[in-house]
Amino acid sequence: FSSSLALQSAIKNVTVIGGGLMGSGIAQVAAQAGQNVTLVDVNSDILAKAQKSIGNNLGRVAKKIYKDNPQESEKFVTESMNRIKTATDALSASQTADLVVEAIVENIDVKHQLFQKLDQIAPDHTIFASNTSSLSVNEIASVVKRKDKFGGLHFFNPVPVMRLLEVVRGAETSETTYKSMMDWGKSLGKTCITCKDTPGFVVNRLLVPYIAEAIRLFERGDASARDIDIAMKLGAGYPMGPLELADYVGLDTNKFILDGWHKKFPEEQLFKPIPLLNKLVSEGKLGVKTGEGFYKYE
Ligand code: CAA
Ligand code: NAD
Repeated sequence: FSSSLALQSAIKNVTVIGGGLMGSGIAQVAAQAGQNVTLVDVNSDILAKAQKSIGNNLGRVAKKIYKDNPQESEKFVTESMNRIKTATDALSASQTADLVVEAIVENIDVKHQLFQKLDQIAPDHTIFASNTSSLSVNEIASVVKRKDKFGGLHFFNPVPVMRLLEVVRGAETSETTYKSMMDWGKSLGKTCITCKDTPGFVVNRLLVPYIAEAIRLFERGDASARDIDIAMKLGAGYPMGPLELADYVGLDTNKFILDGWHKKFPEEQLFKPIPLLNKLVSEGKLGVKTGEGFYKYE
């Protein structure tokens, strides 16, 4: 009974595991919302990099909120930064967590290893969530005993800017856990939608085949990359065209998701491998992060 009461109270202590692109954004938005955050990564250089980028991005947010008040702006940045601790040991960092959000590498075995250990050490009331883009939440949860306290919390890049949070209810996610996840998402200022544990949930189930079709269109020579992107920006009102977005998300990530789904659903035409995508990835042209993908970046 006491643990269900604890669940209903607002989440105050959040441990984010994985200090890369997504984890640093998730830590930032939780700290901005007044929560105590511990950001964990196996690599302390990545943690230092994460703190630096969080500081910069908080500065952008503060500038917007406190346009004419540099003092308040600085206070907001300092106070938010002070709420974020960093650690390299996920297990001890989770001992006081109400919620653990996992944003480590997209690999089921690595995620299993982490959650299996966490399950033994985290308090009974602690909710576990994965930010996975393409894996099954139920499959990730299969290694923990607390299946009722496990779900998906899928954020979008860049986390501080994108307003959506997909809340994924696994087969055994309890109503209380689901409500806590929704409440937490709202406390960060995100609009939350409810998803079942289906491949790609809602956004990626639509976005990944859309990007794949754009690459196939380009591969066939039906239009230039620039024209495809202009088409979707000016003809459909998207902020980025599909090939720009593919470069932004990372061509390796796009390939990884498609390959994973193709293996699971070999009959689905939309998930079929794309020779051009495979070629770019094999050449190390992964998009913005390597300086070249469909476009070149400085
Ligand atoms: N932190 C804080 N603020 C940021 C930021 C960050 N990391 N990045 C951008 N901003 C702010 C800027 O300060 C700017 O604010 P103002 O408008 O108030 O000045 C605003 O966001 C827009 O930024 P820019 O002017 O630099 O650039 P832009 O107008 O071209 O927008 C964008 C950039 C928000 C990325 C926009 O192009 C966009 O929405 N693109 C589509 C992104 C998208 O589809 N993301 C989902 C990818 S799929 C995914 O994430 C799921 C998955 O599992 C793979
Ligand atoms: P990333 O490579 O930028 O960061 C992952 C971090 O996890 C790395 O810093 C790595 O050192 C760390 N890590 C790996 N194993 C660890 C472990 N056992 N313990 C602690 N830290 C560990 O990756 P990312 O883009 O931030 O993606 C993270 C997760 O979020 C993935 O599951 C991905 O599918 C998902 N996701 C990504 C995006 C995106 O656009 N990149 C969007 C939504 C969801």
